[in-house]
Amino acid sequence: MNSTALTDVRFPNVRIHESSYVDERVQIGEGTRIWHFCHILDDVTIGRNCSIGQNVMIGPRVTVGNNCKIQNNVSLYEGITLEDDVFCGPSCVFTNVINPRSAISRKAEFRSTLVKCGATIGANATIVCGYAVGSYAFVAAGAVVTRDVPDFALMAGVPARRVGWMSHYGERLDRNLICPATKRRYQEVAPDRLVSLE
Ligand SMILES: CC(C)(COP(=O)(O)OP(=O)(O)OC[C@H]1O[C@@H](n2cnc3c(N)ncnc32)[C@H](O)[C@@H]1OP(=O)(O)O)[C@@H](O)C(=O)NCCC(=O)NCCS
Repeated sequence: MNSTALTDVRFPNVRIHESSYVDERVQIGEGTRIWHFCHILDDVTIGRNCSIGQNVMIGPRVTVGNNCKIQNNVSLYEGITLEDDVFCGPSCVFTNVINPRSAISRKAEFRSTLVKCGATIGANATIVCGYAVGSYAFVAAGAVVTRDVPDFALMAGVPARRVGWMSHYGERLDRNLICPATKRRYQEVAPDRLVSLE
């Protein structure tokens, strides 16, 4: 951040750009940076060492884990939960109402979305509400997720289908289910279930 960046006295060791608003009942862990034009609403908890990009809206009542990266132009509405180490690509979209109508209030019908530890959501992807994205799953850019996503699954297309498996490291597994970068080994224990052997 440049010299106009401010440290909010409410949050020691957190950098919050002066163009962003953080409401009253918010907790933010040390080392987190909040860039320009963000709004963090009441009853939000953000973990340590997160990066919140430009024009991000979070809340109310949303939890973001430690070490998450949320790129520009993302809104995390009530009902969304991010565990630790989640990457949200630029302009990815979360939803919380399955059948919205402007003239009908559906606030009592929010469906939740859980993004588990280490998962990546690609740029411009959409996560339809009511599903869980598994640990270390990888949603390709532009995909539309319409069901639960298994751990380590590489999901692409509209609607998103599993087109492969991704390692912890974020590399596509080869046919032997070995990460080309780290050589970590995995095993398919059921048609849509991968586990790490290490
Ligand atoms: C999904 C992804 C990881 C695939 O990478 P990859 O394994 O190197 O894939 P390749 O480029 O070799 O493409 C393999 C095939 O998948 C297709 N493909 C690649 N990305 C795709 C996507 N996002 N959606 C649908 N199909 C895709 C390619 O067209 C290609 O198809 P083909 O075999 O019919 O020619 C990558 O394309 C992607 O979407 N990354 C996310 C990037 C992002 O959003 N970053 C955000 C912050 S910068």
